Amino acid sequence: MTWPLPQRPKRQTAPKQTASAGAAPKLDLTQRLRRNRKADWTRRLVCENTLSTADLIWPVFLCEGENTRQPVASMPGVERLSIDLSVRAAVEAAELGIPALALFPFTDPGLRNEQASEALNPQNLVCRACRAIKSEVPNLGLITDVALDPYTSHGHDGILRGEKILNDETVFVLVKQALNQARAGADIIAPSDMMDGRVGAIRAGLDAENFEDVQILSYAAKYASAFYGPFRDAVGTNATLIGDKRSYQMDPANSNEALREVALDIVEGADIVMVKPGLPYLDILFRVKERFGVPTFAYQVSGEYAMIMAAAELGFIDGGNAMLESLICLKRAGADAILTYFAPRAARKLREKA
Ligand code: PBG
Repeated sequence: MTWPLPQRPKRQTAPKQTASAGAAPKLDLTQRLRRNRKADWTRRLVCENTLSTADLIWPVFLCEGENTRQPVASMPGVERLSIDLSVRAAVEAAELGIPALALFPFTDPGLRNEQASEALNPQNLVCRACRAIKSEVPNLGLITDVALDPYTSHGHDGILRGEKILNDETVFVLVKQALNQARAGADIIAPSDMMDGRVGAIRAGLDAENFEDVQILSYAAKYASAFYGPFRDAVGTNATLIGDKRSYQMDPANSNEALREVALDIVEGADIVMVKPGLPYLDILFRVKERFGVPTFAYQVSGEYAMIMAAAELGFIDGGNAMLESLICLKRAGADAILTYFAPRAARKLREKA
């Protein structure tokens, strides 16, 4: 019990201000919470939450080419990787004990169009990467993103008519995109598009093709956030995006609506739900986990990563400590796992500490 206290503490008498600090009178305290914090061993004993490599999912950006790495300017330390190097990253993830990768493609601009047809190409970058990684590291989980933005000429997650994103027409395409990924070996299908009804439609589509073991990780409460900026550099949609995504992604001012989004996705068949971004949305994460108790992931998004890296590079904060603190805070708020660009670095740091 933390509150109300079992006994009302007696009011302290004011210490005489004439005495020096060394001669200060002892406070008559029954509870001194600092006792449990007096040394590392006891701090470890009373620790309520832990971060382990088993909590980390590593988002990896893909590009064409061989032995090719392309730095993402707004995300220091993050590079787009050609498929052969993504396989190397997968091997590294497995060695570090990271359970899964999440794949995001930089689609050649010449392949982007109004219908996002490249999303349905069985030989697209993501599908080829899935096959290559699966054949080399079969026990690593692979998460693929279902949304049309890396494939559309306008950078939106759906099919656009005039200025409108068409919901049902988009869902029709998303189901095909999900099946394309499942056939390539994706273990978890992760719709990040925020169309209504897509989880149910994707579940039905997968089941009809005997992919009943393929999981759905729904970006259930995904906000229209400025913190996605660096990601859009990485997948090349900042250059093309017309307008904003507020007609499908959530208003940062809302939280009850997030619970409705999550409830619907669970009913439609989501195995895991996600809240995104991470740190600015801890209250949402907490409410979702409290209310539904289903596996709940958080996405520490590109802008959150960029902020920590930029401040660390300027010497304003200790980057390594800020990284671990931000991740344990997400755990404390209720995340079962976290998508984070820090995944390999955090895993290495956790291994050092162990
Ligand atoms: C696109 C998608 C986005 C992210 C994941 N999938 C960006 C967006 O919605 O514009 C953001 C991830 C990040 O910022 O790290 N469907």
